[in-house]
Amino acid sequence: MKQRYLGVIPATILAAVLFTPLAVFSEETLSQVDQDHLNDLVKHGQGNVAFLEAFEAGDELSEFDFTADHGVGANIGEGRRFTRFPRADLDGDQEWASHFPKREGGANATSCISCHSAPFANGAGGVAMNVVLDPDHTGDPSQYLERNTTSLFALSIPQRLAEEMSVELYLQRESARGLACSQGATTVALVAKEVKFGTLSLTRINTEPCEVNIDTSQLAGIDADLVVRPFGWKGNHATIRSFTRDAAHNELGLQATELVGAQDGDFDGVIHELSVGDVTALTLYMAALERPVSTVELAEFGLINLTEAQSAEIAAGEHLFTTVGCSSCHVPSMEIANPTFSEPSRVAGYADILFPDGSNPGAHGLGSDTAVTFDMRLDPPNNQVLLDDGGVYYLGALETDAKGKGTARWFSDFKRHDMGPALSDPSDPLGMGASVFMTRSLAGVGSTGPWLHDGRATTLDEAILAHGGEAAASRHAYAAMSEADAARIVTYLESLILFSADTEH
Ligand code: HEC
Ligand code: HEC
Repeated sequence: MKQRYLGVIPATILAAVLFTPLAVFSEETLSQVDQDHLNDLVKHGQGNVAFLEAFEAGDELSEFDFTADHGVGANIGEGRRFTRFPRADLDGDQEWASHFPKREGGANATSCISCHSAPFANGAGGVAMNVVLDPDHTGDPSQYLERNTTSLFALSIPQRLAEEMSVELYLQRESARGLACSQGATTVALVAKEVKFGTLSLTRINTEPCEVNIDTSQLAGIDADLVVRPFGWKGNHATIRSFTRDAAHNELGLQATELVGAQDGDFDGVIHELSVGDVTALTLYMAALERPVSTVELAEFGLINLTEAQSAEIAAGEHLFTTVGCSSCHVPSMEIANPTFSEPSRVAGYADILFPDGSNPGAHGLGSDTAVTFDMRLDPPNNQVLLDDGGVYYLGALETDAKGKGTARWFSDFKRHDMGPALSDPSDPLGMGASVFMTRSLAGVGSTGPWLHDGRATTLDEAILAHGGEAAASRHAYAAMSEADAARIVTYLESLILFSADTEH
């Protein structure tokens, strides 16, 4: 079996490689990121170097066109390597349906950015990039799930917000536990960053030692473990890292060591297709990518022009967005108390206790004492814009308020909501309700069409009118507005864009 890891390269060969003109470099020269190397940098006070190296490596990994030598794709059967369509029918030895972990779809691409591409690399995807999933291997197209590609910018923001919200909720549960121990029973209404997550009812079932039964049936929009899971249309992944290794497996057919150990779960003859360091690098890259912006902000810094009339329409739309109830789910802004992103995370529920392959992350050098961290307000490398007065504006970094606190305009409450039958998936493999979705962030939404989980909405107006279920009141209020007011809301959403200084200038 081949391994991507090249091991020690004899100096003579290395010299030859180094003196080869860049253009001759072929795919095979991508070497795996060594987690131990990142750890060494952190241990020697070079944490920022570790971060920048990981970011660069993640950049390369996200755009790299992997080849069979790297183990891209999978042996799906019939001698084929890729499929856009789940193939539960190919269930022979080593074929699609026998891969482990169980495939949901694919393999269907050779790079991350072949889907995450609109309007530029790391963005969302058109409907041609929709992913088709059959997690339960029904083999029945009427049960398949269709998923539109989301954008990958500034993913530290949702993860840090979710981490801070979960910590708030854990503390509320623990103080309720104390109350239940002393009083016998209590009910606590859970609130994090002003978002309500329903109630927990705790009943003491033993006094010494105190044991408490916790009734989680009245929770709203969150799992019983109180871990806020901000990623995926369904809100079923807590971390960038866990989403990444699943995406690598399902979409690219690249099985990370932390997913399958030294096994060849997709029977393509290659093992160790992504190292622990590779997954760390991809995670830090997406975490530290430039944040979505607004045209209002770009105009303030003279990067674009907005007429007074345009600014007034956007401001009016922003106001209507709140009065019509959109902001009750798409919460326009939240504070991040500690804007330091850490990989691995230091928050319970957001760091792997065991990797999916059953191994201990520490055994692979992934531990919180050598975590690679960055300051979300200063360190994101992209979109540092040179201003006319010679100053630099960290447009790619997290916004701060007057007190230097991180302000995240992510437009989500990080809760799952029932969106009604019209938006329902045909099946419910996760068991959370087929019409239940995480409030999708509207950061950058003006640049990420088509919209909704399956990309059915070709305009923002359609996307809003498709809301139902818990969003029905707000949708009806929108539909009842004057045409001019409805257009103002759309204009406001269109002002929330993805922006890359590299691409635009
Ligand atoms: C074949 C198209 C395709 C490819 C290739 C692809 N993705 Fe995705 N990606 C998607 C789709 C579709 C979603 C939404 C999936 C969902 O929510 O169920 C998504 C969502 C994500 C998310 C979650 C973002 C969020 O805010 O919820 C992350 C992270 C991600 N992808 C990372 C990657 C990485 C890293 C790679 C390469 C290893 C990759 N993707 C390759 C289509 C793709
Ligand atoms: C009850 C919570 C809730 C309310 C209220 C709500 N939304 Fe949403 N919104 C969601 C959820 C959940 C999704 C994802 C639904 C899906 O993909 O099927 C979503 C998706 C969207 C999208 C598509 C985002 C994308 O990237 O595809 C837009 C645009 C949007 N909402 C705008 C609005 C506007 C404007 C309002 C007010 C008129 C509003 N929403 C009210 C929960 C809500």
